[in-house]
Amino acid sequence: VCWFLANFYDRVMRRSEEEGLGAWRAELLGPLEGTVLEVGAGTGANLPHFPERLGRLVLTEPDKHMRRRLLLRLRALRRKVDVIAAPVERLPFPGATFDAVVVTLVLCSVERLDRALHEIRRVLKPGGRLVFIEHVAATDRPGRLAWQRLLEPFWLRLTSNCHLTRRTDEAIRAAGFELERLTRASMRKALPWVRPTVRGCARAPA
Ligand SMILES: C[S@@+](CC[C@H](N)C(=O)[O-])C[C@H]1O[C@@H](n2cnc3c(N)ncnc32)[C@H](O)[C@@H]1O
Repeated sequence: VCWFLANFYDRVMRRSEEEGLGAWRAELLGPLEGTVLEVGAGTGANLPHFPERLGRLVLTEPDKHMRRRLLLRLRALRRKVDVIAAPVERLPFPGATFDAVVVTLVLCSVERLDRALHEIRRVLKPGGRLVFIEHVAATDRPGRLAWQRLLEPFWLRLTSNCHLTRRTDEAIRAAGFELERLTRASMRKALPWVRPTVRGCARAPA
């Protein structure tokens, strides 16, 4: 992620956060318990929504500009959280470490979605939960999907590898998770090609 994106990310997302995204984060993260890993924490938009009662909270953020903003936000919060730079493809934890893994608006930009999900599954305890909010392909709106396909090559370059046409919920299922909750919704005040989203919770095999 370039310096520019990292520094304007919160400003770009503000209206979407206020008009729904923030509430989605709160609803999904509020019930979490135990040892939790967030992958690609960015500037820390999820931080206010993690319950205080968590046993341990670890955040990963491989991008140095994003990580700098994340650390600044953490300092203001005065909360005990571990921050590491590792990418999702190589998480430096033994298998079956976490009760839950959180990914929000990250799986669109990982290089290999299947590998990322495989690694997340490895570090989850049996029966542990993957909690996600991701923008996806507009599968129910052919016109918008056509636009997403057209724009994707440019968007990939403009952003840091953000794909517009991923079917992330299908990939989560294909990686062996059981989808417990899945909601499709439009992200308000976002650019039209990143509006279609999926959010919910998937369980790793017991
Ligand atoms: C659009 S931002 C989302 C940030 C935050 N999760 C949120 O909900 O606002 C995408 C983040 O994913 C991170 N990211 C990209 N590729 C990654 C990878 N392979 N492993 C872990 N994080 C990655 C980026 O550095 C960036 O901070």
